[in-house]
Amino acid sequence: MNILVTGGAGYIGSHTCVALLEAGHTVIVADNLSNSKAATIEKVKQITNKEITFYHMDMTDELVNTIFSNHNIDGVIHFAGLKSVGESAEKPLDYYYNNIVSTMVIAKACQKFNVNRFVFSSSATVYGDNKVPFVETYDLLPTTNPYGETKAMSERILTDIAMANPAFSVSLLRYFNPVGAHESGLIGEAPNGIPNNLMPYITQVAKRKLEKLRVFGNDYITMDGTGVRDYIHIMDLAEGHVAALNNLTEGVHIYNLGTGQGTSVLELIKAFEEANGIEVPYEIVDRRPGDIASCFADTSKARQELGWIVKRDITEMCRDAWRFEKNYK
Ligand SMILES: NC(=O)c1ccc[n+]([C@@H]2O[C@H](COP(=O)([O-])OP(=O)(O)OC[C@H]3O[C@@H](n4cnc5c(N)ncnc54)[C@H](O)[C@@H]3O)[C@@H](O)[C@H]2O)c1
Repeated sequence: MNILVTGGAGYIGSHTCVALLEAGHTVIVADNLSNSKAATIEKVKQITNKEITFYHMDMTDELVNTIFSNHNIDGVIHFAGLKSVGESAEKPLDYYYNNIVSTMVIAKACQKFNVNRFVFSSSATVYGDNKVPFVETYDLLPTTNPYGETKAMSERILTDIAMANPAFSVSLLRYFNPVGAHESGLIGEAPNGIPNNLMPYITQVAKRKLEKLRVFGNDYITMDGTGVRDYIHIMDLAEGHVAALNNLTEGVHIYNLGTGQGTSVLELIKAFEEANGIEVPYEIVDRRPGDIASCFADTSKARQELGWIVKRDITEMCRDAWRFEKNYK
């Protein structure tokens, strides 16, 4: 299939491009490079030895219609979006505008050009502080931040479009915590500034770019008091997109993409130290507003309906994340 990957130069998008190309699909990437570099596309080509057509374009601009005119698009994976929970509280309008308008512009182009396969990057954030493990059938709770609201709203918009147009097939993928990098070490997670996510923070401390890791709270009701998350290897997540696309049928389908295993912050630090033989100094600081104690997935639906299972464990996540960080300039 010819797949338009919006935000395909970003962290999850670039790894998904690798998985799509390896599965035999043709990939067209559109990205405004607000949080990524064009060089990443070159690295994806190098890894796969395949071509990618790249459009430097903003997905809130109706110019995206030209992509649909130029290519016979069979499906869209819509990654393009702003993703920092903290920043979304400071710049709500930027988040609502970018994330909601881009979803509407792409969905409108799909309708115009009769493209009926749509895969959307949602997030476990939409579950709010629900009881773990999170199940797709849960009623969604308020997410306490504008970023999470943009994901919940985009899910609603796409669901309403599918209700009105039964041919439209939508897969809403709720990601848990993607970490690690492609095993080549050529692509990975390279956030600007101080990382918001734990794994890039750990790798930057390991590289001595940052002095020590700040662990936000050790008084949660969890096995060791630190927050528990469901870390998933980025290539397993990428392969989940291929499975979702290949199994897409009419209507709206929601899938958790996680491992189903919760790992605490202290456990992840230990796993990283053991996998790579490097010490990661840390200090315990106050809880961060908006963080919940535990977040992990019930993954049975994705396993049963998509035949998708994760293949990589926490040691591989830590090893691959470190390999990328060491190489990254
Ligand atoms: N990384 C996570 O932990 C996580 C978890 C759940 C959901 N998600 C969602 O998955 C998607 C991809 O996340 P990521 O971690 O790869 O982030 P990323 O920032 O690395 O990738 C997003 C890409 O979209 C591009 N982009 C942003 N707005 C755009 C616009 N208007 N037009 C064109 N391109 C635009 C950026 O330049 C970037 O390349 C996002 O929608 C994010 O909200 C991420």
